[in-house]
Amino acid sequence: MYLSQDIPKITTHVLQEMKLKGEKIAMLTAYDYSMAKILDESGIDVILVGDSASNVMAGHKTTLPITLNEMIYHASGVMRAVNRSLVVVDMPFGTYQGDSKEALHSAIRIMKETGANAVKLEGGEEIVESINRILSAGIPILGHLGLTPQSINKFGTYVVRATEEKEAEKLRRDAKILEQAGCFGIVLEKIPSQLASEVTQSVRIPTIGIGAGAGCDGQVLVLHDMLGINQSFSPRFLRRYHNLYEEIKGSVGCYIADVKSSDFPNKREQY
Ligand code: KIV
Repeated sequence: MYLSQDIPKITTHVLQEMKLKGEKIAMLTAYDYSMAKILDESGIDVILVGDSASNVMAGHKTTLPITLNEMIYHASGVMRAVNRSLVVVDMPFGTYQGDSKEALHSAIRIMKETGANAVKLEGGEEIVESINRILSAGIPILGHLGLTPQSINKFGTYVVRATEEKEAEKLRRDAKILEQAGCFGIVLEKIPSQLASEVTQSVRIPTIGIGAGAGCDGQVLVLHDMLGINQSFSPRFLRRYHNLYEEIKGSVGCYIADVKSSDFPNKREQY
């Protein structure tokens, strides 16, 4: 059995093989060159240039305000850093929901102007026309079901989705629709783990969970959350691997003290 660490470049076909062989897929978000370089060189399988950039990079309350041009800016920086990971770019709110021709135009701009490998769209049946048109241009799509943050104004809250049978049944149906359309994978966000496992077993394409339990084929987290840069977001599903907020604050505090006391720069640090 191969491990994805031995693969020179991750493609959508590699992800499919990983599902078949039971190797879990590791995905994280990145929005800039420097972080993407660290992630790629650490061996991450998939980098998502998420529209969560709207929250963690721009400070908006939701993902809705981020524009196509801003997503292209973030993704271009990421692409300049990456050699091995598969890079997926979120299509921002308003660029694919209404008109499938506009959806294709937006997806083509992302692919042409960034060099990314795939795009991600939120939703199922209601956006299938856009999905079909984008796929017919040879652009790979990662689906996204469950808590789809671009629909926060419809949901009204970020609580776990599909706990009621009616919504769970729609999610099962949507997963099948995305698979049949030709999506290469599906992100499942904040749904009961039992439902996520069931969906994972019912489709041939990989599922990538965030708050959807251990039964998914892979996992994704927002980089700033898992590194502890962002302290204000603490959902149950988040595992923090670092407390970078405190580390950075400590370093900045030391720098300020050194400048104020004229300790920095010393003789060896000047010309
Ligand atoms: O934008 C994002 O970061 C996402 C992940 C939460 C899956 O869509």
